[in-house]
Formats: sequence, structure tokens, C-alpha cells
Amino acid sequence: MLSRSVKLSLRFMLPLAILLGLFAYIVVPLMDNLTLRWSVRDLDNRSQLLAATLQVPLREDVLLNDKAHIKKLFDGAIEDERLFALGFCDPSGKLLYKTYTYPQSLGCWDKPADGSKQKSLVQLPRGPVHVADTPIEDNGTALGRLILVHDMSFIERRSAETTKYVLIFFALLGVAIAFLTLLVSHLSWRGWLASLNDVLRGQLLPRDVQSTAPGAPPPAPPPEMEPLIGELRSLLEEYHEERQSSSSGNSAEWAPEKLKALLQQDLAGDQVLVVSNREPYIHEKNKDGTIRVRRPASGLVTAVEAVMRACSGTWIAHGAGSADRETVDRNDHVPVPPKDPSYTLRRVWLTEEEEKGYYYGFANEGLWPLCHIAHVRPVFRSSDWDEYVKVNRRFADAVIKEARTDNPVVLVQDYHFALLPRMVREALPKATIITFWHIPWPNSESFGICPWREEILEGMLGSTILGFHTPFHRKNFLDTVDRYLETRIEPEASTISYGNELTQVEDYPISIAWPDYPDTQPVEQCRTEIRQLLGVPEDHLLAFGVDRLDYTKGILERFQAVESMLELHPAMIGKFSFVQIAAPSRSDLEEYMNFEQRVRKLAARVNDRFGSDGYLPIILKIEHHEQAELQRYFRACEVCMVTSLHDGMNLVAKEFIAARDDERGALVLSQFTGAARELHEALIINPYHIEQGAEALYRGLTMPPVEQRERMRSMRDRVRRFNVYRWAGHMLLDAARLRKREKVMQKIRSHSRGNLRRVG
Ligand code: F6P
Repeated sequence: MLSRSVKLSLRFMLPLAILLGLFAYIVVPLMDNLTLRWSVRDLDNRSQLLAATLQVPLREDVLLNDKAHIKKLFDGAIEDERLFALGFCDPSGKLLYKTYTYPQSLGCWDKPADGSKQKSLVQLPRGPVHVADTPIEDNGTALGRLILVHDMSFIERRSAETTKYVLIFFALLGVAIAFLTLLVSHLSWRGWLASLNDVLRGQLLPRDVQSTAPGAPPPAPPPEMEPLIGELRSLLEEYHEERQSSSSGNSAEWAPEKLKALLQQDLAGDQVLVVSNREPYIHEKNKDGTIRVRRPASGLVTAVEAVMRACSGTWIAHGAGSADRETVDRNDHVPVPPKDPSYTLRRVWLTEEEEKGYYYGFANEGLWPLCHIAHVRPVFRSSDWDEYVKVNRRFADAVIKEARTDNPVVLVQDYHFALLPRMVREALPKATIITFWHIPWPNSESFGICPWREEILEGMLGSTILGFHTPFHRKNFLDTVDRYLETRIEPEASTISYGNELTQVEDYPISIAWPDYPDTQPVEQCRTEIRQLLGVPEDHLLAFGVDRLDYTKGILERFQAVESMLELHPAMIGKFSFVQIAAPSRSDLEEYMNFEQRVRKLAARVNDRFGSDGYLPIILKIEHHEQAELQRYFRACEVCMVTSLHDGMNLVAKEFIAARDDERGALVLSQFTGAARELHEALIINPYHIEQGAEALYRGLTMPPVEQRERMRSMRDRVRRFNVYRWAGHMLLDAARLRKREKVMQKIRSHSRGNLRRVG
């Protein structure tokens, strides 16, 4: 690092030395000239003074022609070390009296016509002298001129000395600047590197909500640095963005049109097939026999649906709704979205046994707890595994059947389909298979618990591209493959070669589609209506949480934080409520049933402790809510709490930010979500640290509007730019690049095969 600073300084010091040299080259003659001017003026004054002193005695001596006295007078005068000689000339120009030092060649010196001071300098063989004359008169009659000759050699000495000092001064200045540059560059290089590293690691958290957990991020910067760090982060992101855009030849903000254009231009309009377990539209039968459409509570669906609307194509998913079979055609297709169809939903039917083993069993009792650090033990059963293999095969067959060409783009979603990429690859070797893992990937040791770890990894490596939310999960995956499979891994390029296939492993942080607000109710209206709905006063403070009812979401810890906040800040009792919407999820599983009981019990306990007639500190709604209703809550509350114990991304955090076009509200966000890597201006907490959660909640409720705006503005800007189209766009661009490369490789291969045949 020191040598880097030295190099940096040298790069600066060389031009500095040249500059200083040039400067000295100009300044020294200037100084000489100045010294000379000062000296001449000095001698002019001196000559006048001396002449005035000598004038009176000289006049008398001249009138008396007293040569001896004149000599005495002159000799006495030249005892002054600078006055070199004196002479007196009569009006006819004859030198009458002079000191023995008087230069013969000077004669009765004729003053130059322009009388300039410089002209009083006369160059004699012994060196330069200053000459001045003064008329001596007697009652208006000219008696002659007194000529004073001063020695100038001292000026040369003075000038040489000045030059010496000027050069010494410049040399010292150069050394001082060089030293300071070296010091400053070294210190600032270290400081900036450290800051940049912190920023790049996303470790800068608001000061009073830092984690104290082991392995938690380092201390946050002082608050006065936060705006600067925010700016720096934005700059780095823009720089990163620009680099990525310029390498892809794309710089405009990501939007549906851009994604469509990309598909047509870079992927030649190839067919897009999505596979996920959860379907985007569920048809349910009402009691009266009518059919309604429900949107599931799923981050995956929220994100991928926006992409499918833009790209068209076919989405293959499990038909789980009670009226799903009634709404499909004979190919099990249904056009969606129901009101304005833009793509096809292809439903796959599962038996109860298949759903139990594949979805509830292997996926949600095995892989889900395996991949999330939520301290719930994974359960692996052979019977579940068998179903998982079978269902993966069924979905793979559906993909193969839906494919109109031999090289479709297949977007495989999540941990339900780890085996499917290889199954599709075997049937459609030219397909571009992009698999996105929506949940975290554990470290290799944890993953080793899975009895079918090799099969899962092999299945996933059938993908062309394998995506995770964060670099951390991507790295965990590379380490896991390295540990359990015989592969060639290129860590720099982030590729894995397995057999004859290459898989690109990347991180693509998922996001949401930035909403336009045509039918959104104004914030004030949402505030009023939601408070009326909840039966609380107009000025009641609200914090809000919305999740699937899942043990990874940190709902219990959130309620404990609410309880602790009311303990620490009793003034909030009666004035504040926390609203939790929890969509029932995987409720057939015992773990989830128990969890629901615990959530209900804790809410009741806090309400018993701090509630009073009609006042509930925690308002718990375990029921499904449609997106439009959630929007109203997002816009009505002061604080949104996302406290997941572990989460791949968490799109609720981003939805809240997108909903706040009034730039108000505060987000409390768990450091264990992928979103915390992007939303640095949220109040980042360790959800296991209850008091920290409590203080962050209080801070959010009491945050000054200016600070809310500042934080919100910055987060909104990021979410708007880093939207879901960018997420999909980057994956598709990478896929397009790999497809082109594959086509070139194929040509080369067939060309060389042809050559070999000819040679043979
Ligand atoms: O986002 C993670 C995820 O597991 C998705 O894969 C899934 O769609 C969502 O949560 C909801 O879970 P489920 O589909 O099991 O209700």
C-alpha cells in the first residue's frame, strides 16, 4: 500500500519539480531586476543627500579656490565605504578637483538625455558604478557640478545572495509539498480504500441500529458521513451500472419495452417458458358456485409475473386452485392476466400424494429449513424424495411438450425444481436454461446434511445460467459444488464445467416492477380510511408488517420488539399499534401450525399487557389480502417492519418503498435479508436483538420528516432503477451472450469435423 502511495506521489511530484524549476527560472531574473531597481533608487537618494551635505562647504571652497580644503572635504566623504569617488567639474566641463579613486575614463560624466535611473549606471573595467551629479551654484551663477560615484559591487553580492535564498526557498517548498503529498496520499488512500471496501461490502449501517451479534457488520460511520456515503454508494452503483450497460450496449433505464426489445433483438424472439410451483393466478370456487381469481402471496410470483407480461410466452405451474380445472382448455392452458391476457398459464395437476411428498415434504420440510438459518431442523424422507424426482420429471415433460423449437429460453424458478434443469437439458440440449434460486444457499457444510446433495447439484448444473440473489449465496454454491462434485470451477469467471457443459453462476438481485400510480388513493385518504377501518384515532401511530405466516419471517421477534418498545417508551402506550397481516402458508405442516399458535399467543400476551378498552398494541390479521389493500396499508403507516431471520431478498421491503411516493415513512429492515444489501438507508437491525428492534421501531415512529424524506428518496431512486426488468434483463443478456458463443462454438466444431473427414 505504501509503495502504491509512493508511486501515486511520484506521479504528482515529477510535474511538480518541473513546475518549480520553471518558476525559479522565471523568478530569479525578476528578483535580480527588482534588487537592482531598489538599489539604484537607494543610491539616487543617497547621492542627493550627500550632495546636499557637501554643497555649502564645497561652494565656499570653490569660490575661494581652496584646493586643500576641497581635497580634505572629498577624502573625508569617501571614507563612507559605498561612496567610491567624488569629482568637481567647472561649467566648461573641465575636471577641477577629484579624489584619487575617481575613474579617469569617467571624465566630466555627461548624464544621459532621458535621465532614466538605469542610465546612472556606468560599466567600468573594475565593475559597475552608480554616477550622479548635482549642480553647485552661487546666487544663480553656475559654479560647476559635483559628481558622486558609488560602488555597485555590493549590489551584485546582494543579488547573488537573493538568488541563493530564492533557490533554497523553492527547493524547501518542493520538499515540503512532496512530503505532504506523500503523507496525504498515503493516508487518504488507506482511508478511501477502507471506506470503499465498506461501501462495497454494504456494511455501513445507521449508527444506533448496529448489530452486536457475532460476525455482524463493523461499526457504522458517524451520522454526518451518511449523506456522503449515500452519494458515494449511488456513484459506485451508477458506475457499476454504466459499466454493465456499456458492456451490453444498453444504457436506458430498464422497462418492459426494453425487455421485449432485448428478447427480439438478442434472443431472436425465442420462446420463453417459465416453470414454478406457485401459479400466478389461482381460480377458487366460492360457496355460491361462482369463481373468483386470487393472486398468491409470493415474492416470486410478483416479480416473474411482471416479466411475463412484458415477454409473453408460457408459464407452467401447479394448478392448486379449487376451480383451476374448470378454467383451462383441453391443453390445460388459460390466458392470463384474466382481464387483459398477455401470456399463457399452463397448469400441471398433482395428486395429493405427489403434493404431499414433493411440495410439503421434500421442498418445504427438507430444502426450505436447510437453506434458511432459522433453527428449524430439516426433515428428509426417501418417500418425499421419490415424489420430488417424479414431480420434477412431470414438469420437465410439460416444458418439453410446450417447447415449439429445440432451443427455447426456459426460466426455472426456485428450490422446487432442482432436478428439472438437467432433465430438460437431456431432451433439449440447445435450450437456454436459466435457473433462479429464490431462497438463500447455505454453506457447504450445512448443505451436506441433504442425503441427495450430489443429485441436487447435478440437476442444477443442467442450467446454462444459475442465479442467486447475493454474491454470498453464489459463493456458497460454488464452494458446495467444489466440495461434493468433480467439476472444474473458474472462480474469476464464476463458471462451473461439469461433463461437457458449462454453467455460469451469477448473482442477480431480484426486484419489483416500479408502479405507476394511476388508481392509487392519495396518502391522506389511505391514512384516514385505514385508521377508520382499524377503529383507531386519526393521529394514531401505525407500524405495519406483511408476510406469509412463516417461521423465517421473524414475526415473533417483531412482536417482542413491539413489546420491548412499549416497555422502554411507555408514552407510546395507547398512541401506537402494530398491524400484522400474515397470509396463511403451508398450513398442512405441523411446524407451520405450531408457528401460527405461537404467533397468536404472543400477540394476545402483548395485548393483555399493554392493551385497554378498545386499544390493541398488536392488530393481527391472519388472512390473505389483495395487493391493492396492502398498498393502502403501506401508504397509511409510519413504519414498515421486515424482520426476517433469513431471507433471499424480501420484496415487501421494496414494495413499501415503491408505495411511498410521498417520500415519508421509515423502513426497519433485518440485516439477514438480501434487501439489506441494497437498501442502506433503512434502519438495519439484527432481528434476534430485541431491544435493537425496539429502538429502531421507536426511531422510525419519531423520525423527523426531513430525515424520512432523505432516506426514502435515496431508496426509491435505487428500487426504481434496479427494478425487476433489470433483474430479468441481465439474466437474458447473459443468456444471449452464452447462446451466441455456443452457436460460434458449434460452427467451429462442425467445421473442424468436416476438415477431419476430408483428411480421413
Ligand atoms: O420467495 C420464496 C418462496 O418460497 C417462493 O418460492 C414461493 O412462491 C413463495 O416463497 C411462497 O411460498 P409458497 O409458494 O410455498 O406459498
